[in-house]
Parts: sequence; C-alpha cells; structure tokens
Amino acid sequence: MSKKLFIETLGCAMNVRDSEHMIAELNAHEGYELTDDATAADLILINTCSVREKPVHKLFSELGVFNKLKKSDAKIGVCGCTASHLGKEIIKRAPYVNFVLGARNVSKITDVLHKDRAVEVDIDYDESQFAFKDFRSSPYKAFINISIGCDKQCTFCIVPKTRGEEVSIPPELIVAEVKKAVDNGAKEVFLLGQNVNNYGRRLANEKVNFTELLRRVSAVEGLERIRFTSPHPLHMDDEFIEEFARNPKICKSMHMPLQSGSTNILKAMKRGYSKEWFLNRAQKLRELVPDVSISTDIIVAFPGESDEDFEDTMDVLNQVRFEQLFSFKYSPRPLTEAEKMEEVDSEVGSDRLDRLQARHDEILDEMKSINLGKMVEVYFEELRSDGYVAGRSDNNLSIKVKGSEEWLGKIAKVKIIEVSRNVQYGEIIA
Ligand code: 5AD
Ligand code: SF4
Repeated sequence: MSKKLFIETLGCAMNVRDSEHMIAELNAHEGYELTDDATAADLILINTCSVREKPVHKLFSELGVFNKLKKSDAKIGVCGCTASHLGKEIIKRAPYVNFVLGARNVSKITDVLHKDRAVEVDIDYDESQFAFKDFRSSPYKAFINISIGCDKQCTFCIVPKTRGEEVSIPPELIVAEVKKAVDNGAKEVFLLGQNVNNYGRRLANEKVNFTELLRRVSAVEGLERIRFTSPHPLHMDDEFIEEFARNPKICKSMHMPLQSGSTNILKAMKRGYSKEWFLNRAQKLRELVPDVSISTDIIVAFPGESDEDFEDTMDVLNQVRFEQLFSFKYSPRPLTEAEKMEEVDSEVGSDRLDRLQARHDEILDEMKSINLGKMVEVYFEELRSDGYVAGRSDNNLSIKVKGSEEWLGKIAKVKIIEVSRNVQYGEIIA
C-alpha cells in the first residue's frame, strides 16, 4: 500500500506552488499519495504563512490537534514562511514535530523526511533552478514561478526574512515550463513572484525585464491567458502598462498593492512611491484599458498613521474604485523595521478597517450593475455541486453558469444575467 500525505496550505499563491512541488517530490521519490484525511496520513505537512501574527498563533494550536489525531507512527513537518523565521523554536514548543523546512528549502523535502528533528531554514539557499518533479492541482491553470525571494525592504513585511533575496529564474526555463503546462492542457498560466515586475534581478546571462518576459511567454502557441501576481506599483512604468494594454493574451486584471494612500506613511513603509504616483498609474491603466479590473491590498493603522493619513487612503479608494480589496489591520512582525515603532490604538485601527471595508462595499454595490447584460469570455475551471460550472472572465469576474463538466477547460462567451458583489450569474451564448 502506498504511503499517504496530508498537506494543509496557508498564505499566498507562492505557497500553493511550493506545496505542489513538495507533493511532486514526495510522490516521485518516496511514493506518497495525497489524502484529505489527516487521520489516515503517514505524513502531515503544514505549509505556513507568517505575514500576519494571527496565523502564527493558530499554527501551534493546530499542531496540537494534528498530534492528537494522527496515526501513532505518522510524521509531522512544518514548512513555509513561519518555519523560516521560527526555525528550531517550533520543535522546542512542539517537540513531536519531526522536521522544519523553510520557504526557501522546498527541494530538501525528501532529505528532511529521513532526518530526526531536521531544521532546514537557510534563506541564502538558491533553488531557483531546481528541476522539481511535476504536480499540478488544476489541469486548467498552471502556477509558474518566475522568481524567488524579495529585494524590497517594506518596513512592515517579514517576507524578505523568510524567503531571502530576490533571484530571477532564467527566461528560457520559464518559457519551457509554460510550454509543458500548455502541452498538458492548461490554457492559462499564472506567473508568480513576490515582486514580478522587478523581474531580471541576478540573471546570469542576459538582461530581460518583466515586460520582455511577458512578450516571450505570450509567444507560446496554444496559451490563451496570462495572469501574474504580485506586481509593485513603483515598477509600473509606461512600457509595462502599454504591453499590458496591448497584449491580447494578458488578462485585464491588475493587482496594485496600495498599502496606504498617505505619502507620509508610504515613506515610513519604504514603498518608494507617493499617493500621486499611484493615482497616476491607476489612471493610465483605466485610460488604456477601460475594462480593467484593479485589485489592491491596504494596511490600516500602520504605526504613526493619523486620521489625516487614513483619509488619504479613503481618498485613493474613492478615486480608483478598486474592483477588489484585501484589507488588513497592521500586525507587528518580528525582524521588521516597523516592529519597534509605536503602534496605533487597536480600537482606532479596527474602526478604520470597518470604515474602509464598508465604503468599499458601497462602491461595489454602485459598480455591480455596470456588468449586467455584458458579454464576457469565461474560462471554466470548476464544477460546483449545485449544477453550476464556474470560471473567471478575462478581467477576473467570478462567473457561474448552469452546466456540467463538459465545459471544464473550455472558454465560452457568456452573457451576464445577474450580478452581486462577489459573483455574477450568466448564460452561455457560444
Ligand atoms: N500587517 C498587516 N498586513 C500585512 N501585510 C504584509 N505585512 C503585513 C503586516 N505586518 C499585507 C500587505 C501585503 C499582503 C500580502 O499582506 O498588504 O500586500
Ligand atoms: Fe506568502 Fe508572504 Fe505568507 Fe510567505 S509570508 S506565505 S510569502 S504571503
């Protein structure tokens, strides 16, 4: 009988891809098969996120639960960003954990498995060119790493300390991965990096920036859609926005992580751009791509944020009218510059978060009727239990239509017949 692997993945899309790599390596070299039943597993992995404090607290209570329910000889491994920054402390606090594997040490998964209490968390380790075995959780959409690590020093962010410095994966390896995914049936690729439009860092052979990489990837025959995350507003130069607008394979959905609308706070965050620069970039995008949908990340109550600073953030929200908002109350993180700064009162932070989200809901309600009756192209990826198939439009609207698995992996023209804040219903036209 094969050995069983249970894996829980928290955090961002990079973690999802790291989990796929671990699943592939464990399957190819150790014969593990996936299970969604932790009590039946021989190996339990938690791929953690450390971007905010809460999930880190949750980790230890979750580990306790897994330790109780697991088979007596099953192993537990903690992987990902929290593994990187807590390292051996995890085994101190939870001695039944068998190994700790950092976010930049994914390729060592089959080594740590056989070492008692191994801790591999070196953030200088370079596995950017490691030839991982193949596994993808979706046949329709392929996550493709284009770089590892991050060279920015945003003062709130722990990621440079968990994923190390930025190294770009050579363009020919990326294009080969894209071709392989397309040969295996994917029509869409999702290019991944902490800071994708800073692409080109530490490439040995040639100078290729992100815009050029997009051109090369889009030349792959049979590929229909390109998405990417996350770009940085600072690196959104004209050439990049123009390529985004002009290239028909690039999906018209852009993530622009604002973080704050106040130029003073952006300075304290070391984001490298001002409120005006951000507004100017968003305006250029809306001008060149009228259908674009813009999503953003916002942190409220960063240390030192005054009422006036927060009003600047509300002002940007009102001007850009983001189609999607991910918003967070500032959470102090170890190893960051902002950790030592004086915090904003917690209740003030909660009120600001409520106000921001309530205003964004109003904006969504004002905007949703614009989509009613629109024709969009939808790539169907998911079968829902209620007789619907679901997918996304080019500009990232989530769309459901009545239908069965025959639509999976197909792109169809859909007319939107019902709209709400987060999902639209449609009917297939062709
Ligand atoms: N506190 C709150 N939110 C944070 N993020 C990153 N670090 C923190 C922090 N210390 C948010 C940012 C980032 C998203 C992935 O998480 O908005 O873009
Ligand atoms: Fe992803 Fe950042 Fe969380 Fe690490 S800390 S899993 S890079 S979101």
